[in-house]
Amino acid sequence: MDEMTQRTVYVNGDYVAERDATVSIFDRGFLLADGVYEVSSVLGGKLVDFPGHMGRLKRSAAALEIALPWDEETLLAIHRELIRRNALDEGMVYLQLTRGSAGDRDFHYPDADTQPTLVLFTQAKSLVDARSGREGIRVATQPDWRWARRDIKTVQLLYPAMAKMAAKAAGADDAWLVEDGMVTEGASNNVWMLTHDATLVTRELSSAILPGITRAAVMTLAETLALQLEERAFSVEEAQQARECFVTSASSFVTPVIAIDGVPVGDGRPGEVARRLRAAYIEESRRRAL
Ligand code: PDD
Repeated sequence: MDEMTQRTVYVNGDYVAERDATVSIFDRGFLLADGVYEVSSVLGGKLVDFPGHMGRLKRSAAALEIALPWDEETLLAIHRELIRRNALDEGMVYLQLTRGSAGDRDFHYPDADTQPTLVLFTQAKSLVDARSGREGIRVATQPDWRWARRDIKTVQLLYPAMAKMAAKAAGADDAWLVEDGMVTEGASNNVWMLTHDATLVTRELSSAILPGITRAAVMTLAETLALQLEERAFSVEEAQQARECFVTSASSFVTPVIAIDGVPVGDGRPGEVARRLRAAYIEESRRRAL
């Protein structure tokens, strides 16, 4: 971004130009990846699934005993002010909360009175008309070598970044992570397949995956559309032979998967159920956005 298009970002109570935003080099988010985050999408200048994202932020922070001294109303006001100041119509708001800085490096958590660090910024992006949503994506599988508490949305994203780079090197658009022969989730999304007897399958919640906010919303929509739903793990082979596959996340909504490790899914084109769920999710999100 050049000087003319500098974003206004939020850092610990202040709205500042991005070039003036600073965080301590001793911040535990920087030194230890000791922090959690949320990504909320914005449609028509309004926040999608906001209560869900803030509910999960509270759970992530509580699981790591990171203080979160802002209530949901205050966090909503900060999100809205940033959207307003940046005239954001479509895209995302990224929020990061870290355990803060005790002024030095130390593995042990600092005193309870240490202020957590709260940073938010906007990202303008075309989400509804994304090419991936229309044409689908190709995924490549990678071993799931992340830690064992993937239900907490921490900023430890080095392995997902590595998996995405490996997938890119293999000629794919994104990575699916695999453990004990079963797909856990995408590097930054939840995975779904539609079986030939028209049952939608997505992995059950556990510490192996992130409880996706979009996943929950799409499960509700699937019920509305009278689709059969099953929560269970599936293998790479089963997904390759499914009628359809897709992924869900705040920034990708519902995105069809058209090939897995070079094997086309269905006829190799975005599936009908994924298309319907994507349209329904976008419509419902616009209606309910805050
Ligand atoms: N990623 N699983 C993982 C590992 C994720 O990183 C994400 C989200 C999801 C989907 O969760 P939700 O539907 O609540 O966005 C599942 C965000 C978008 C990111 O890191 O950019």
